[in-house]
Order: sequence, then structure tokens, then C-alpha cells
Amino acid sequence: MDEARLRTILDGFRERKILVVGDFYLDAYWLVDKTASTLSLETPWHTNPVVEQRYSPGAAGTVTNNLAALEVGEIYSLGVIGEDGFGSTLLDRLKGNGCITDFMIAAPDRVTPTYLKPIHRGYEGVETEGPRFDIENQSMMRFEVEDRVIRALRQCVSQVEGVIVGDQMPRNNLGVITDRVRTEICRLAMEFPDKIVFADSRARIGRYRNITVKPNRFEAKRAVDPDWIGEEVSIEEAKRCGQILTVRTDKPLFVTVGQEGILVFQDGRIEHVQGIPLETETDPVGAGDSVSAAIVATLCGGFSYLEAAQVGNLVASITVTKVGTTGTASHEEVIDGFRNISVPPDRSRRDT
Ligand SMILES: Nc1ncnc2c1ncn2[C@@H]1O[C@H](COP(=O)(O)OP(=O)(O)OP(=O)(O)O)[C@@H](O)[C@H]1O
Ligand SMILES: [Mg+2]
Repeated sequence: MDEARLRTILDGFRERKILVVGDFYLDAYWLVDKTASTLSLETPWHTNPVVEQRYSPGAAGTVTNNLAALEVGEIYSLGVIGEDGFGSTLLDRLKGNGCITDFMIAAPDRVTPTYLKPIHRGYEGVETEGPRFDIENQSMMRFEVEDRVIRALRQCVSQVEGVIVGDQMPRNNLGVITDRVRTEICRLAMEFPDKIVFADSRARIGRYRNITVKPNRFEAKRAVDPDWIGEEVSIEEAKRCGQILTVRTDKPLFVTVGQEGILVFQDGRIEHVQGIPLETETDPVGAGDSVSAAIVATLCGGFSYLEAAQVGNLVASITVTKVGTTGTASHEEVIDGFRNISVPPDRSRRDT
């Protein structure tokens, strides 16, 4: 790939129409100024004065954030929120990031999945993140709410070129992608073979059929060997697992292998698209979501799986350098990153 080709791919993103369906979370950061804490008059506890609040979409919302940073033309979100304040904040932030939220469903008996992260600030500005508060649904959606999700999905699919499934609720059947919704997604992929349908899931990637999935090496291993408990998965093992999964899904498949890049499985072949060597500190949180956004935006433009993996690596090589935040990447950052790797250090010295 040369720079002109990369620019063509990125420019095309503005024409793309992509739906993200699944578990939209709200990440809430509350800054607690402990230096202003006082002993409460009624209880023997010191107060936690919240002096700043920041909210941003997480989980499937990290994918929409990345699509927005990549300037994808139309980004639709389909998820379920509660009729609560966090739900309106999430909708507000999604809209603020350029998402079309018409398909979001609010249900009175659901909570808006929220991770509340208190950051405690002490003297001289020292900050420490405190234990997180997780607000998640403890029961399955009612059948009627599931029906609404399926109806909205069918309605939205016809308007988009690609669908990204963010099946991220840690516990089975408690999120938006229940077994019934997943079956429906796989059926839609059969019904609309020209659409790119793509899924990411920490716990359930092995349950998808007829669509492209993107596990990391550990998820691929666990999908193949559910009882596996280990620390490392070699590239060879990731290849073996990916091969088994691509036969099961009957679609091309990606396995991300951290700094080593992405393995692409297609038509019985495996290509290893090498990761981009970085000399700076990295933070992998959200790397997978930026890869999903970049891959699907590229595939929807009619480019190859191999090129999609190259763009995925490039975009993730920018987002992982954003330490301490769930990063995103702009076109300019991606092009700058590409220039840095395309010019070997000895050549750059000669040119200057
Ligand atoms: N240290 C790194 N250097 C360069 N690129 C990296 C590094 N770590 C991750 N990446 C990029 O990010 C992609 C995804 O990383 P990884 O395989 O760790 O996904 P993941 O485990 O799903 O991430 P997440 O923590 O977001 O769920 C890789 O394919 C690669 O392109
Ligand atoms: Mg991941």
C-alpha cells in the first residue's frame, strides 16, 4: 500500500454508512477533590466532593467514537438504555460524536450500562483511580424489548453497508446481543450477503456463524478450547485456532495478535499483516475497537481483507499511543503514522 492508496481508502470513509449494534456503555469519570473533603455532620465519614464530571460512550460506544474520528459519513447506533439520567447523557454524548441515535431503545425496566470511575485528587494534584462502580442489568431483556431490537435491526440494516456487533456484556444473555438477537444477526448476514457483518465479543465470539469475526488471540483460543486457562497463545496456536473458526463461520476472519499485528484468514490461506513497531509507551485499552472501526470502514468501501487489516493496524498503532484514555485516530494522524513507518531511518537520514 502506498500513501495515495491509503488516502483513497480514508477519503472513502466519508461515504460509508455503518451500524453499530450491541452493548453501549457510559463511562463516567468523577473527579473527587479530597482536599475539599469534610467530615459529614450526620455520619462518621469524610465526604467525596465531586468537582468535575466527564462522560463518554464506552464498549460499543468506543467503536462509534472511532468511526466518528475516522470521519465515517453515517454512523448508526442501536442499543438499549434505561429511562434514567445516564441514558440521556449517553444519548447526548453519542449525538455529540456524530452518531445517529434514532434506533436506540429506552426501556423502563433496563438500566443504562454505566462504569462509574471515581478519580481521587489529593494534595499537589496527585490523582488515583478508586474502585469502579458498575451499573449493569441483572436480568435478561423482556421478550418485547428483544423484539424491538430485532425490528430496529431489520429496519436499519437496509440503510447501511456494514454492521459491527459489539457483544460485550460480560454475562451471557444479559446484554443486547442475546442468543435470539445473535441468531437474527447471523440470519440477516445470510439474507444480505452484500453487507459486511462483523462481530467482536470477549466471551462469545465462537457462537457466530456466516459473519466475519475478530477475536484477539486469547478469545480465539478460548472459542476453540473453552476449558483453556493459560497466559500465552503463540502465533502458531493463534493460526490453528483462527483456521478452525473460519471453517465454522464460513467467512474470512481476523485474529488480532497485539503488537504483532493481525492474522487474516481467507479462502484457506493465512496472511500475517505485521504490527507497527512503536518506540513510545503504549496502552492497549480500546485497541480492538479501533481495529474494528477501521476494518469495517475499509471493507465497506470494497477494499480487500488484507488492506483492511493494514488500515486496522495503522489506526490501532495511533490509538495505543494515547496512554490513559480510550484513544481514537484522525486521518491526519493515520497518514503521519504511515509516513513514519514507510521511510526507513537510514533513508530519512539520506533525504534530509
Ligand atoms: N504494542 C503495540 N504496538 C503496536 N500495535 C499494537 C500494540 N498493541 C496492540 N496493537 C494494535 O492493536 C491491535 C489490537 O490489539 P490486541 O490484539 O491486543 O486486541 P484486543 O486484545 O482486542 O484489545 P482490547 O484491549 O482493545 O480489547 C493489534 O492488532 C495491533 O494492530
Ligand atoms: Mg478486544
